[in-house]
Amino acid sequence: MIDHFAHKANDWDQPEKIRMSEKFVEELMKLVDIEPQWKAFEIGAGTGLVGLKLLPMLKSCVFEDTSEAMLDVLRTKVSGLSNVEILHGEVSEYTRPDIDLIISNMAFHHIPDIAATLHHLHTITTSGAVVVVSDLRAEDGSFHYFEPIPHRGFDTENLAVIFRKAGFLIEVLKTYNIIHKKQPSGTIGDYEQFILKAHKL
Ligand SMILES: C[S@@+](CC[C@H](N)C(=O)[O-])C[C@H]1O[C@@H](n2cnc3c(N)ncnc32)[C@H](O)[C@@H]1O
Repeated sequence: MIDHFAHKANDWDQPEKIRMSEKFVEELMKLVDIEPQWKAFEIGAGTGLVGLKLLPMLKSCVFEDTSEAMLDVLRTKVSGLSNVEILHGEVSEYTRPDIDLIISNMAFHHIPDIAATLHHLHTITTSGAVVVVSDLRAEDGSFHYFEPIPHRGFDTENLAVIFRKAGFLIEVLKTYNIIHKKQPSGTIGDYEQFILKAHKL
């Protein structure tokens, strides 16, 4: 497995990334009443910027990511914590049906098969489990001009159909942030971030 984040991991926790994760958590907190007995699973958790903010409100959290380098940074932050599980690998490698809350910030566009991933999430979640995902709305490819990725953001209507087919009912799907990102030409591109909240039927 190629670690596309190996060269970024040690510098990931910059103010811009921290602010982006805070915005996601702020929006998530408006949408979800987190319960203290919940076990969460974060997809593409990276260095833990999102999940570590929610951890004090949860019973426990699984931090999943395909980048060992990003997880190594996370490991330095969680040593001694007994309610943290780190999974280096794909979502499909987690098979216990005990997850009450799925979260993911800016990782879905890196996952090749979203339908298969959502079908798998259905098998590892408890009845009524909540899913909250943030990612980019469809963009022209300029956001990741420097590397190939599976998805140039998402057509959220199509994404909603995939969620429904996998057995999740969408409750909220809206734009909550605009990322202003400098391009090699020097121009600034605006990229809409959506937040999606669904629950398991
Ligand atoms: C843009 S970063 C976001 C990291 C973190 N969620 C945050 O908000 O700081 C995308 C993350 O997705 C991870 N990733 C890439 N492909 C993945 C896959 N197939 N399954 C899970 N995570 C993946 C990357 O290793 C990286 O840590």
